[in-house]
Parts: sequence; C-alpha cells; structure tokens
Amino acid sequence: MKNDIQIVRTAADLSRVTESWKAENLKIGFVPTMGALHDGHLSLVKLALENADRCIVSIFVNPTQFAPHEDFGRYPRDEVGDTAKLAGAGTHLVYMPEAKEIYPDGPVSTIKAGKAAQGLEGDFRPTHFDGVATVVHRLFEQVRPDIAVFGEKDFQQLQVIREMVAAHNMGVEIIGAPIIRDAYGLALSSRNAYLSADELNAARQLNLILSATTKGGNIQAAKSAVLAAGFTKIDYIERRWGRLLAAAWIGKTRLIDNME
Ligand code: PAF
Repeated sequence: MKNDIQIVRTAADLSRVTESWKAENLKIGFVPTMGALHDGHLSLVKLALENADRCIVSIFVNPTQFAPHEDFGRYPRDEVGDTAKLAGAGTHLVYMPEAKEIYPDGPVSTIKAGKAAQGLEGDFRPTHFDGVATVVHRLFEQVRPDIAVFGEKDFQQLQVIREMVAAHNMGVEIIGAPIIRDAYGLALSSRNAYLSADELNAARQLNLILSATTKGGNIQAAKSAVLAAGFTKIDYIERRWGRLLAAAWIGKTRLIDNME
C-alpha cells in the first residue's frame, strides 16, 4: 500500500478534507467510477496523480443512468477489493456515498445531457446520459476538483461530460485517458466479469474486427464479422468524432469499444 487512503461517505466529511487541501493550494484530481475496478480505472488514477497533487476517486453505482431493465441490481460491487487497489495506486481519498447523499430528493435526473448524447448510445439507452450528466454534475459540486479524468472507452460519455462542463461553466479541466486493453486487445470493462470463457473468446474478436475496419474495411462487413464471431446482436457500429464506435451484445452482456 502506497498511501493511507481516507475513506469518506458523506459530502460534509468530504468538504472538510477538500477545504483543507484547497487552503494548502493543493490541486485536486478526481476520478468518478462505479467500482468493480480494473487496470483501466487505475490508469485514470495514474493520470490524475500526474496532473494534480491529490487524487479523489468516487465509487457510486448511479441508479439514474440505468434503465429499469438494465443491470443496476447485478452490477459488480467490491468495496474492500476496490479500496485496496486504489490505495495501492496512490489514491488519497475514496468517496463512497450512499444514494441519499447524491439524491436527497430521490434518484431522478435533473441535468439534461446536450447534443453529444444524441445517436449511438442515445438511441439505445435514451435516459442514460441524463443520468450520467446529473451524477457527474452532483459529484463535481461535492468534490470541487480542478481536473477530472474519464476513460476514452466511453468515448461518447466523455463528449457529453465535456459539453456539460462547458454549458454549466463548471471550471473543471476534463482529461480523456486512452483505453486499456487485455493481451488480446479486449477493452477492459467491469462488465467483462459477466462473460463465460466462450463469451470472452468471442468478445476478444471485436477489437480485431474494428481495427481492420478502421483500415478501410466496410461497416456492413464488420457487422457480419461481429455476428460470425459469436456476438448475438449489434446495436451500432458507426463512425463519429473521427472514430469508429461500436456496441454489441453477447447473450445478456452489452460491450462497447471504439478506435481512432
Ligand atoms: O463511466 C462510469 O463509470 C460512469 O458512467 C460514471 C462517469 C462514474 C458516472 O456514474
């Protein structure tokens, strides 16, 4: 363990710590997460520590970004394991609020995501980005970071957050972090934990197909190849923001990926 990590569960306790850091002119870096942490998350912590004096990570499985039929209930949770990983990565403070701390009036989205939320994920998860924008706005109000780091794995989310921060004049610098992949190129995701061994083999084909498609391949051919690899349904494979973005299902698990 690198640090004695502080564990904080209320906004009041959090603000006592951040006030004292601000009084010392320390720059605060923030990594919001939903826990079930993997090396992708730890790379965000590393980037936060490179760009700030203190790193706060939040762990909060945000109900408003899940539709009723989605995996909120079964989303993996591992407070003890996550805290140990964060301490090992040099995190100074982990903020693990109860839902009432974030949503005192009940879990409703109060921030409307902007244009970046339209299309792609927005077509398949129409309430998702309002939930993300709402929780990130709330967490920024409580943490009051100077910088915040988000993974490019959720590339559309990163655009939604940049837009939200600009629209609400939040004065937080947003840093995008490159996708971390396993030895087979599969983008790390907490949802990979849902996959059986056969499903994992299929999942590992997605990045290869996307990579071939970025080199001039055709999207229709990519969709056929993804289905042939063992994916059961494709939500989209589309070009936007100079990238190729994809979302596809293997059984009950939905995976996303994107490439420049
Ligand atoms: O990317 C995530 O894990 C979540 O969408 C976030 C940004 C922590 C908001 O709940």
